[in-house]
Amino acid sequence: MIIHPLHLLLLLIKILLFRSIFALDFVFNGFDSSDLLIYGNATLESRVLTVTNDTTFSIGRALYQSKIPTKSPNSSAVLPFSTSFIFSIAPSKSKNILPGHGLVFIFVPSTGIDGSSSAQHLGLFNRTNDGDSNNHVFGIEFDVFENQEFNDRSDNHVGIDVNSLTSVTAEDAGYWPDDDDSFEELSLNNGVNYQVWIDYLDSQLNVTMAPVGLRRPRQPLMAVDLNLSDVLLEEMYVGFCGATGRLAENHRILSWSFSNSNFSLSEELITMNLPSFVPPNNSFFRSKGFIAGITVATIVAIGFSILISLVLVKGKQRRRRDREAMEDWELEYWPHRMTYQDVSTATKGFSEENVIGIGGNGKVYKGVLVGGIEVAVKRISHESGDKMREFLAEVSSLGRLKHRNLVGLRGWCKREKESLILIYDYMENGSLDKRVFECEESMILSWEDRVRVLKDVAAGVMYLHEGWEARVLHRDIKASNVLLDKDMNGRLADFGLARMHGHGQVANTTRVVGTVGYMAPEVVRSGRASAQTDVFCFGVLILEVACGRRPIEDGKPPLVEWVWGLMERGELVSALDERLKARGGFDDEEVERVLHLGLLCAYPDHHSRPTMRQVVKVLEGKSEVDELEEEGMNVYLLDKLKSTKMWSKHRRSLGRGGHPTFKEIRESLTSSMPLFGSDIIVEGR
Ligand SMILES: *[C@@H]1O[C@H](CO)[C@@H](O)[C@H](O)[C@H]1NC(C)=O
Ligand SMILES: *[C@@H]1O[C@H](CO)[C@@H](O)[C@H](O)[C@H]1NC(C)=O
Ligand SMILES: *[C@@H]1O[C@H](CO)[C@@H](O)[C@H](O)[C@H]1NC(C)=O
Ligand SMILES: *[C@@H]1O[C@H](CO)[C@@H](O)[C@H](O)[C@H]1NC(C)=O
Ligand SMILES: *[C@@H]1O[C@H](CO)[C@@H](O)[C@H](O)[C@H]1NC(C)=O
Ligand SMILES: *[C@@H]1O[C@H](CO)[C@@H](O)[C@H](O)[C@H]1NC(C)=O
Ligand SMILES: *[C@@H]1O[C@H](CO)[C@@H](O)[C@H](O)[C@H]1NC(C)=O
Ligand SMILES: *[C@@H]1O[C@H](CO)[C@@H](O)[C@H](O)[C@H]1NC(C)=O
Repeated sequence: MIIHPLHLLLLLIKILLFRSIFALDFVFNGFDSSDLLIYGNATLESRVLTVTNDTTFSIGRALYQSKIPTKSPNSSAVLPFSTSFIFSIAPSKSKNILPGHGLVFIFVPSTGIDGSSSAQHLGLFNRTNDGDSNNHVFGIEFDVFENQEFNDRSDNHVGIDVNSLTSVTAEDAGYWPDDDDSFEELSLNNGVNYQVWIDYLDSQLNVTMAPVGLRRPRQPLMAVDLNLSDVLLEEMYVGFCGATGRLAENHRILSWSFSNSNFSLSEELITMNLPSFVPPNNSFFRSKGFIAGITVATIVAIGFSILISLVLVKGKQRRRRDREAMEDWELEYWPHRMTYQDVSTATKGFSEENVIGIGGNGKVYKGVLVGGIEVAVKRISHESGDKMREFLAEVSSLGRLKHRNLVGLRGWCKREKESLILIYDYMENGSLDKRVFECEESMILSWEDRVRVLKDVAAGVMYLHEGWEARVLHRDIKASNVLLDKDMNGRLADFGLARMHGHGQVANTTRVVGTVGYMAPEVVRSGRASAQTDVFCFGVLILEVACGRRPIEDGKPPLVEWVWGLMERGELVSALDERLKARGGFDDEEVERVLHLGLLCAYPDHHSRPTMRQVVKVLEGKSEVDELEEEGMNVYLLDKLKSTKMWSKHRRSLGRGGHPTFKEIRESLTSSMPLFGSDIIVEGR
């Protein structure tokens, strides 16, 4: 950018003007309690601000003690500002919790934390106000969980948020060293102290980060044009918020400077002799799991290194061949390639009015093909190599999978190198969650319909798991991924996360994918998906559809735990959706059966979950308990658990008789399963 000298002079005058009238400067090298307003679970200790510690489901917020001017009075001109802070995000001491969720630097209109939720909402928004332009919230997020809901780019990113957690722009965390033109990625959640600089001047926003002690890199991580005039009010509170969910980590701020006039004030931050929150290396070696784990770890490591060397050797060849390979593969599987022109015409040139949804991977448009066939068009634009590969997986699995309970893929089309367009059958009746949660009385699905749709989904998942030469894991079964066709049949959509692998193998992944609230405990602990983790998601789906409650709601216990509690008290039927109770048309016994099945599928121990085939049988009413037991599933009706092997094992490990509670079972599983494997997998990203 070339700046005219006159322009600079004007800027200088502007800055000087602002300085004389509204200038606000502060530097905190460590905090006193009078410096900040503190809310929720945030604490101040030894002059360090702990926004959240690694307690699960906590929210913290800290704001500068008073409002600060952000606009010049009676004008829409936003004041320039320059702020810098040093933060640390440290993993949980407990080895079996994966890190989550993130820290945000914020401008907010008011004090307090009302209207903010934990977990993926980062203590900033909640499910209903996310995206609302009346929020008047601006933030820079440091997010360690790749949430499909907000189109997160990775599980280690920095994003610019305007009234929503779906970032305006995001980049992987890291910096551009001054003397080198290769990007250095920085891992956010390793406890290291990082310094961040955020500068805003004349609708330009720069965000830069680097490990503490390094001079500020000349090239910012993000430099974007962003007019904050409509977002910021005349005066705002400025500060930090953060949250944990079932995934947890420590979020800390060590120091902070802010100025409307002096863009060098950040130099006042002390970068030497800061406390370090990097976990000591030896904690792992002392942990219980280590001794038992070392053997397994070695085997796994050897396996990995063989794999890696294979991948390295193959990688080069593959990269070269990728394009050609794709062409072969197109010919083999894709008689339905469409022209971009046809698709563009069908969607009126991808017009906004045709948008029917925004999925994890991009916008979805409604279109009408020549001949009047209605389709849903999913457009995946300018994706990087990795994403592209993900979509190829989606295309190759979906295109070849045909089942009445899967959303059919009609065709596809490629636009230039990096853009892919998928054309699906159009589902007239929208998604299941719209018919269970957010709709008028008349649109709500009856009990009978809900059970029917669940049967459909079960059949779809079973087909994925068993109906094909390779097992396909869905990995993201949830109400919003179940669509209803014109006959109200349930069909499973969005195979964006599906990766195929041969039958009988455990799928390995180095990234945790899924939606918060639907992830099985073993996925949270180890990041490994399996057919049983799909069963878990399906169990959560059963419960939410039957109870009309989302898996995680503010101020309420997690759905699975809540239903389990009711079951233990013999009040299972009271879990049924209130609106269905009012309406009638259900049979208590069936409600119980369905809820039992949901609980069984969402059982914390994955060994005790049924297979999808068994689930289908139970839903179809074809299988009786005895039969299931014969098939080797040792638990079905949960009150029969007492007599089963699993149950007595847990009872023994708890050292007493009687019914263990859900919580006890979960905890006994967590502590009796040291997760050596997961350490390698998680750190191996
Ligand atoms: C976090 O804050 C909430 C409400 O602000 C409170 O109910 C909860 O007990 C706190 N958690 C901890 C660990 O202090
Ligand atoms: C975490 O913070 C809460 C306050 O929000 C506190 O009650 C709790 O003791 C802390 N836990 C640890 C392990 O420091
Ligand atoms: C801003 O407008 C208010 C009335 O709308 C007026 O009282 C005030 O003097 C104005 N301030 C400046 C700095 O012009
Ligand atoms: C979300 O926050 C808004 C206030 O910002 C509040 O009115 C609303 O009730 C909250 N919704 C939920 C589901 O908590
Ligand atoms: C942002 O960074 C660009 C590129 O380094 C620089 O030209 C510009 O002056 C910076 N703007 C602000 C507001 O710091
Ligand atoms: C920012 O937007 C406001 C109103 O939306 C406008 O008045 C102002 O001129 C814009 N500023 C710049 C620098 O474009
Ligand atoms: C801005 O801050 C730096 C660092 O504290 C200081 O050296 C410099 O004199 C300040 N500039 C102005 C104009 O106050
Ligand atoms: C941990 O180990 C790594 C290499 O194994 C070393 O670079 C680092 O300094 C160690 N950290 C601590 C805190 O000992």
